[in-house]
Amino acid sequence: MTTYWRLGATAAIVILGSPCLIQALDVVTPDNRTLDEIYSLAKNESGPLNIIFGGSSAAAAAPILAAFSKQYPDVVLNATTDLSKYVDTVIDRSYITNNPYVDIAILQTVNDYPRWRDEGRLLKYKPATFDEINNSIKDPNGAYVPVNIYQFGPFYYDNTKVTPERVPKSYADILDPYWKGKLVLTYPNDDDGVLTLFSLIISRYGFAWFDALMEQDVLWVRGASAASTTIINAHNSTNTTDSARSLTFTALGGFTPSTSFLTVAQPQAPEQFMSWGQLLGIFASTPRPESAKLFASFVLSNEWQSSLAAAGPVVMDSLNQQFGHALFEANNTQVTGYITFMGDRARVEWWRMQIETTLGLPQGPDPPTGR
Ligand SMILES: *[C@@H]1O[C@H](CO)[C@@H](O)[C@H](O)[C@H]1NC(C)=O
Ligand SMILES: *[C@@H]1O[C@H](CO)[C@@H](O)[C@H](O)[C@H]1NC(C)=O
Ligand SMILES: *[C@@H]1O[C@H](CO)[C@@H](O)[C@H](O)[C@H]1NC(C)=O
Ligand SMILES: *[C@@H]1O[C@H](CO)[C@@H](O)[C@H](O)[C@H]1NC(C)=O
Ligand SMILES: *[C@@H]1O[C@H](CO)[C@@H](O)[C@H](O)[C@H]1NC(C)=O
Ligand SMILES: *[C@@H]1O[C@H](CO)[C@@H](O)[C@H](O)[C@H]1NC(C)=O
Ligand SMILES: *[C@@H]1O[C@H](CO)[C@@H](O)[C@H](O)[C@H]1NC(C)=O
Repeated sequence: MTTYWRLGATAAIVILGSPCLIQALDVVTPDNRTLDEIYSLAKNESGPLNIIFGGSSAAAAAPILAAFSKQYPDVVLNATTDLSKYVDTVIDRSYITNNPYVDIAILQTVNDYPRWRDEGRLLKYKPATFDEINNSIKDPNGAYVPVNIYQFGPFYYDNTKVTPERVPKSYADILDPYWKGKLVLTYPNDDDGVLTLFSLIISRYGFAWFDALMEQDVLWVRGASAASTTIINAHNSTNTTDSARSLTFTALGGFTPSTSFLTVAQPQAPEQFMSWGQLLGIFASTPRPESAKLFASFVLSNEWQSSLAAAGPVVMDSLNQQFGHALFEANNTQVTGYITFMGDRARVEWWRMQIETTLGLPQGPDPPTGR
């Protein structure tokens, strides 16, 4: 009979012999300082704190930047927004050329973070609320954390133009001739999030669905924010072609539109839309670690996350419970599905080329920068 002490001794030897398990012992505990305590140290660092946001509109980051700067005016921020697929390469190039000037990256390219972690480029840091963040989408050692939940797939429509009985319940519904000339969609081959959604829809309905969609006189735009903006601009348009644009399912990721005449409707299971946690990583190269920790702690503070939870699901299990959001248990979206999809670059490339063969290259300037 094996005695427990023998098992214990064997386990100890295995741990010492395995780099993987030694890393698992590299325990970072959640920061138990108050934000004001971190601020007092951050103030002593020289700035600015360089933060890069991934996205198609700089306006999306404005609320968090304004809230942070109001509370911590002495930590100067230098925030920029561009598509995640471009800024991650900028970050890599700055690293290769020994000028890693970015302190924090908050991006949609969730596949970058495990790589950056494995290359030793991320600072392991756990904000005080770390244990509240759902385990399925964070690095257990704090190398990266999700900060916002976004989604592609729910139907955003102008409720002054689309009557309740016309609101689609599935992606098959949008093939109805009624929708011809009324749809605005983001190029799936320009955004891996939208591509993930199209892979889900086409996997369910086949490429015949996509071919039929191509007959619907869709207005294809670059960037998710352009999809909703086009519908907002069409609201009062006197041009009948423009004014017909009243529905998208690739709008900029939130759950509650801020425009009164826009309504959002989720497709119901078994139909699936995509959702994900936008990731935050602090680069280990930062000369401003306390400022970076303060920003991460502020974004993941109960105060800030509660303001987000009032509008939709968040990354923290406790707040989802409190606000009645069942995102992680939902049967019409899988938050971890996007991480799996993004991790398989050959598969992403295959889907992108399937779309591009039919749709062609995305047309128009880079959305947030105009270049
Ligand atoms: C805060 O964390 C540090 C480091 O883990 C620990 O030494 C200290 O006892 C903690 N303080 C409190 C008040 O929990
Ligand atoms: C503030 O920074 C200066 C040098 O930049 C350093 O000498 C000093 O110890 C720092 N003070 C605190 C409270 O960290
Ligand atoms: C601010 O950010 C931009 C874009 O990332 C960068 O080019 C610039 O050097 C930064 N400014 C400072 C002062 O670090
Ligand atoms: C975390 O997310 C998983 C699915 O990704 C879900 O099954 C689980 O219930 C969530 N945890 C909590 C504590 O809500
Ligand atoms: C549409 O027109 C109304 C009435 O003129 C105006 O109040 C509203 O701001 C306009 N909305 C948009 C999105 O332009
Ligand atoms: C209406 O808008 C469409 C698309 O933006 C444009 O092609 C067309 O020329 C416009 N019609 C008029 C009469 O301005
Ligand atoms: C999905 O979940 C909703 C809400 O919990 C439930 O009403 C519905 O029956 C479920 N649908 C399927 C197909 O499981």
